[in-house]
Parts: sequence; structure tokens; C-alpha cells
Amino acid sequence: MPVSAVPDTLTLTRPDDWHLHVRDGAALASVLPYTARQFGRAIVMPNLRPPVKTTGQALAYRERILAARPEAGQPGADFEPLMTLYLTDLTPPEEIRRAKEAGIVALKLYPAGATTNSDAGVTDIRKTYTTLEAMQREGLLLLVHGEVTDPAIDVFDREAVFIDQVMQPLRRDFPELKVVFEHITTRDAAQYVASAGAHTAATVTAHHLLYNRNAIFQGGLRPHYYCLPVLKREVHRQALLEAIASGSDRFFLGTDSAPHAAVMKEASVCGAGCFTAPSALELYAEAFESIGALDKLDAFAGHHGPAFYGLPRNTGTVTLKREPWTLPESMPFADEASIKPLRGGETLAWRQCNVV
Ligand code: DOR
Ligand code: ZN
Repeated sequence: MPVSAVPDTLTLTRPDDWHLHVRDGAALASVLPYTARQFGRAIVMPNLRPPVKTTGQALAYRERILAARPEAGQPGADFEPLMTLYLTDLTPPEEIRRAKEAGIVALKLYPAGATTNSDAGVTDIRKTYTTLEAMQREGLLLLVHGEVTDPAIDVFDREAVFIDQVMQPLRRDFPELKVVFEHITTRDAAQYVASAGAHTAATVTAHHLLYNRNAIFQGGLRPHYYCLPVLKREVHRQALLEAIASGSDRFFLGTDSAPHAAVMKEASVCGAGCFTAPSALELYAEAFESIGALDKLDAFAGHHGPAFYGLPRNTGTVTLKREPWTLPESMPFADEASIKPLRGGETLAWRQCNVV
């Protein structure tokens, strides 16, 4: 591409984050403003402790999120959380009608034990079939953490095995259910989603686009690069880049920004999650630019997600400028703790300058 064709300013449809963890309480107040200043809406994950299992709990959580938004008149004051429920073996089918009427858009399937706060998750997907039927009927989406939990399966293979063992039977049995394969990390998942038909889509994180598994071991063990599904080999990262470069509307933005206090990450047992909210769009811009696909970023971030969820696009815009800046290494988090964002202390090439 000639140098003159590379833009220094990117004005994007105000995007949405289709996969986000904002926690609760003081942690929620610390992290929500980072997302609200970039994104119009976000799909909020329900893996609190205890999990958000009922419509009533989701509506109460929504109020706490609204209360944590920037003040009226400030950028992000109009941010809208899109609520989800945590699917369990025992979620009653009747809950789905209540959820639909309350504006809840999706349920999240965590295979029990797959990741942070997933102990109450699904032990066997067949136990949820009557609830999935109700979701298919009511038009609620199923959001999937796509990893098997069998300890005999290598951690790096768990997503690929999930496709064979769970996704394919699920698609066969519920062809009209809209399913989002969250935070895909492998060529297997990218190819599966591309070929699975119009009711299957995927979110892709910035960190899985920017890094392969070497990042976890660069000069020593790097806990801030540890997330689930774990970073994979370079061949898989390349497949994710190809998927977004294709411009297919079945792939869209979902940061999986997952805040954990620095003391929890830098510990003998490190929680899974990369905190990317403070520079989410900037990191995606870097990934798209690395493959000469900046022209595909707007649709990936602001068009494909609403189309799949059946929601209108946001009306405003955000602007990114090519302007080097240093992301703080550490930020305040909850009660006197600190948090380290991914790439903290490093220089980023793009910087958000305004929201209109
Ligand atoms: O890295 C992750 N962190 N993956 C998940 O699935 C959960 C998340 C969290 O809640 O911290
Ligand atoms: Zn997540």
C-alpha cells in the first residue's frame, strides 16, 4: 500500500464491545469508565461471584452498572450495558420468557470449571436442552465459552475438541438458535465459524490478534498475558487475522477485557484475564493496521455485531489519531489495589481523541 494511503485519522461508527467483564462494587466503578468512553454498548458477562443467574439479579446488576457510568455531560454517560444470564444445568425454561421481557439479550454457557467463576456452569449441555429450546423460540442468543474441561485434553487443544464434541451437535439440534463462539483462538474455530451458516458468529479479542503463546514466556513468565482460552501458536493467530481481513460479518469485536487486581495476577496461582479496556480500540487498530486492513475495522467494531444481535447501529462516532502515547503501567483498582493493563508502560501508535 502506498504510504499516502495509510490514514492518520480514523473516524469509526461508535463501536460496541460484544464481550466484556466489568465485575461489581468498587472494581466496577474503577473499570467501567474506560469502556464507556470508547463503546456505545457492551455485552456484560455474568460470571460474578455468585453468578448472575436470574432476570432479577441481572436487572439489579444493570442498575449498578448504570450508576458507575461517567456523569451526565461527560463522554460515555450514555453507555448502555446489554445484560446476560449465566446458564446452569438448572436454568428453568420459564426464566427465558422473563428474561426476554426484561430486555436481556443472551445466556452465557460456561462449561463447569472452564475458567474464572465457572464452577456453577454447565456439566452436560444436554441438561440445558429444554432451556435452549425456549431461547431458540424467544430469540435469545447463546454465548459460548468454547473449551472442553476434560483434564485429559491438552489445554491448547480444548477449543478444537469443543467444536467436535459440543458445537457440532448443538448446531444440529438447534439450527435456529443464534450462537456466538466467544473469543476464538484457533484456526479450527475460525474455519468452523466461517462455514457454520448465518446463525453462528464469533468474537475476536485484540490480544488474540496481537499475540501468540510466546508472549506468555517472553524473558520469564508473564502473567498479564495469561487468559482463557490461552494464547495459541502463530499459525492460529494468522488464521484469526485472515478471518478479520476477510471482512466477513460473522466476526466482530469482543475484548474479553477481564480485570484482576495486580496482586491476583502476580501470584503463585494467577487468575486468567487480560485487562485491555483502557486502550481497546487502539489495540484493535494496531492489529488491523499490521495486516493492511484498517478499512475493515469500522464494520468489525461497529456494524457486524449489531446486525447479528438484531440491534440498530450506534449513531455517533469515535476518532482515533496516529499519535504515540504511553499507556500507564498501573492504574487504581477497587479499594486501594492497583491493576496493570495489557501493554501498560509501553507506547501505543493510535490514540482515541473524541466521541461525538
Ligand atoms: O481470561 C479470561 N478471564 N477468560 C475467561 O473466560 C474469564 C475471564 C475472567 O472472568 O476473568
Ligand atoms: Zn470472558
